[in-house]
Amino acid sequence: MLARTLTLVAAITVAAAAEASVTDTDILQYALTLEHLESAFYSSGLAKFKESDFASGGEQRALFAQIAAHEASHVELLTTVLGKDATKACTYNFPYTDIQGFKALAQVLEGVGVTAYLGAAASISNKDYLTVAGSILTVEARHAAWLATTNGRDPWPGAYDTPLAFSQVFSLAAPFITSCPESNPKLPVKAFPALTASGANGSYKSGQSLTLSVPPSVNASSLFVAFLTGTSVEYVPYTVNQSIQIPPGVNSTGSIYAVVTISNTSATDETTVAGPAVLMFNAQYPANVVPGSSTGNGSGLSGTDGTGKAPGNSSGSLGPRLWAAALGLVLAIVATVV
Ligand SMILES: *[C@@H]1O[C@H](CO)[C@@H](O)[C@H](O)[C@H]1NC(C)=O
Ligand SMILES: *[C@@H]1O[C@H](CO)[C@@H](O)[C@H](O)[C@H]1NC(C)=O
Ligand SMILES: *[C@@H]1O[C@H](CO)[C@@H](O)[C@H](O)[C@H]1NC(C)=O
Ligand SMILES: *[C@@H]1O[C@H](CO)[C@@H](O)[C@H](O)[C@H]1NC(C)=O
Ligand SMILES: *[C@@H]1O[C@H](CO)[C@@H](O)[C@H](O)[C@H]1NC(C)=O
Ligand SMILES: *[C@@H]1O[C@H](CO)[C@@H](O)[C@H](O)[C@H]1NC(C)=O
Ligand SMILES: *[C@@H]1O[C@H](CO)[C@@H](O)[C@H](O)[C@H]1NC(C)=O
Repeated sequence: MLARTLTLVAAITVAAAAEASVTDTDILQYALTLEHLESAFYSSGLAKFKESDFASGGEQRALFAQIAAHEASHVELLTTVLGKDATKACTYNFPYTDIQGFKALAQVLEGVGVTAYLGAAASISNKDYLTVAGSILTVEARHAAWLATTNGRDPWPGAYDTPLAFSQVFSLAAPFITSCPESNPKLPVKAFPALTASGANGSYKSGQSLTLSVPPSVNASSLFVAFLTGTSVEYVPYTVNQSIQIPPGVNSTGSIYAVVTISNTSATDETTVAGPAVLMFNAQYPANVVPGSSTGNGSGLSGTDGTGKAPGNSSGSLGPRLWAAALGLVLAIVATVV
C-alpha cells in the first residue's frame, strides 16, 4: 500500500510539478481564459442548433443550456475576483459543423478543463482559491461525464483524472483562439507545436500502432512520447513521424493525452516539445451496459440519448441558488483578500 502510494505521488509530481514562478493571479487569469473559451463555445452551439437538432426533442438542448449557464457563472466569478486584472473574452473559431461534432468537442473541452484545474492545483498558494478551483473542477468533471455518456462513451476515464501542465493545456486551447484584446494580461504560457495522430481515433487501445507526426521544427535526436493517463505517465522512444506501439500501461478510457518530450522521466512544460494530442480510447462497457445511456441499461436518463422524460425548466439563465453560491464564493474570496 505504501509502495503504491509513493508511486502515485511520484507520478503526480512528474505529471504536474508545482510551478513556483506562477502567481495565483496568473492562475486565475489562465482559468478565466479557459472559462471564456468554454462559455463562448456553448453560446455558439446554442445559437447554431435548435431543439430538434438535439436528441430527445430538445431535452438535451436544455441540459446544454445549463452547462452554458455554469460556464457563464465561472466567467462571472473569476472576473469579479480578478477585478481590474480580469482577462477579457477573445474571438474564437470552433471547427464543428454538425451536432455530433459539437458534442464531441464539448466532451474534449470539458476534459481539458478538468486537466487544467487539476494540473494547476499544486501551484495555487491561496487555499481559498484552491477551494473555488476545486468546486469548479468537480462540476466540469460531471459535465465531462454526462457528455461522454451522451456521446456513447465511458463516463469516467478510470480511477484517476489526468493533470496537465499550464502550457500543455494552453496548447489544446490555442487552436480555437483567433485573436484576443491587446489589453489582456500576458500569461506565462505558450502553445507547443501540434502533435497529429493517425489511426482509429475513438478506438485506440494498448498494443496498437499509432503514428504521431510533428512539424519540421521538432527535430531533437532523443525524443519520447509520454502518454499521460490518470496520474501515471508511460514513455516510449520516439523517432520523428515514425510509428510507435501504445504501451500496455496505457489502458484507461476516454481522453488520454500524448506529448513528445525530451525526457523519459518527466513530462512537464519544461520537457514537452510537441502536443498534446487528445486520443480517444475505447469505451470499456460491461456487457449489460448500452453505450449512450446514463442508466446503464439503455432506458436513458432525462436529456440523454435515451427516451427519458423532459427535465425541469431550464431556460438557460442562472438560478437564484447558483447566484447565491457564486456570490458566497466571491464574498469568501474578497474577505480573505481584504
Ligand atoms: C480524437 O477525437 C476527439 C473527439 O472527436 C478530437 O477532439 C481529437 O482531436 C481527435 N484526436 C485525433 C488525434 O484525431
Ligand atoms: C513529419 O511530418 C510532418 C507532417 O506531415 C512534416 O511537416 C514534417 O516535415 C515531417 N518531418 C520529418 C522529419 O519528416
Ligand atoms: C531544427 O529546428 C530548429 C528550430 O526550428 C531549426 O532552427 C533547425 O534548423 C532545425 N534543424 C534541422 C536539421 O532541421
Ligand atoms: C493498466 O496499466 C497499469 C499501469 O498504468 C497497470 O498497473 C495495470 O496492471 C494495467 N491493467 C491492465 C488490465 O492491463
Ligand atoms: C531513458 O532514456 C535514456 C536516454 O535515452 C536511456 O538510457 C534509458 O534506458 C531510458 N530509460 C527507460 C526506462 O526507457
Ligand atoms: C432497464 O430499465 C427499465 C426502465 O427502468 C426497466 O424496465 C428494465 O427492466 C431495465 N432492464 C434491465 C436489463 O435492467
Ligand atoms: C421556463 O421558465 C421561464 C422563466 O421562468 C418561463 O418564461 C418559461 O415559460 C418556462 N418554460 C417552460 C417550458 O416551463
